[in-house]
Amino acid sequence: MRHHHLVQTKEKKGIIFDLDGVLVFTDQYHYLAWKQLADELGVYFDEKINNRLRGVSRMDSLEIILERYQGEPLNQVQKSELAEKKNEIYRNMLQQMRPANVSAEVRSCLKELRRRGFRLAIGSSSKNAKLILEKVDLLGAFQAISDGTNINQSKPSPEVFLKAAEFLRLEPEECYVVEDAKVGIDAAKAGGMIGIGIGDAATYEKADMKVNSFSEILSVI
Ligand code: G6P
Ligand code: MG
Repeated sequence: MRHHHLVQTKEKKGIIFDLDGVLVFTDQYHYLAWKQLADELGVYFDEKINNRLRGVSRMDSLEIILERYQGEPLNQVQKSELAEKKNEIYRNMLQQMRPANVSAEVRSCLKELRRRGFRLAIGSSSKNAKLILEKVDLLGAFQAISDGTNINQSKPSPEVFLKAAEFLRLEPEECYVVEDAKVGIDAAKAGGMIGIGIGDAATYEKADMKVNSFSEILSVI
């Protein structure tokens, strides 16, 4: 008998969603908050640099901002203070968030995915994920939340998604990941999941699937 090398593709039962830039456009608030901090530090910052911050933890994001910093070297205490300052600006912006900040398209699509029997989870590097979900009334839409409070390594490490799959009681191979960050697609693939790119990651060659709108997810899975 001939030996066939079959790729085992497991039936997909779960979908893990990144939060910022996928379900809500807090990525704009992140940009504005970092911009404010960068201006105070006299550091150049633009949308292109901001794209490198997608999916990256707060402290790692600060290091990227500081690549162009020309002042006296900063110690860890000063860096923590800067990150905390950015977070305060950011959290003040988050106070404006309302259920209306989640599109009808996103809500009905999530509902349809549930109807099709998928288990849904959040896989976000953010430590503010639960606050955001609460503000926009999306906490109840997910069976599991894996975020910046339960991980040690940020994307491209698959940790946040592996935890999400575990919280859903699924194997990574049974999950799709929806991401707007290139590092998020890398993380999904490193974890053995299927990476669906949206937004900034919709043109990423490593994405297994690419969508131009949220509802397009319904036709690619
Ligand atoms: C998400 C965003 C990143 C952000 C990270 C940490 O992954 O895409 O831009 O830096 O969360 O967010 P936090 O709310 O914990 O500062
Ligand atoms: Mg994102």
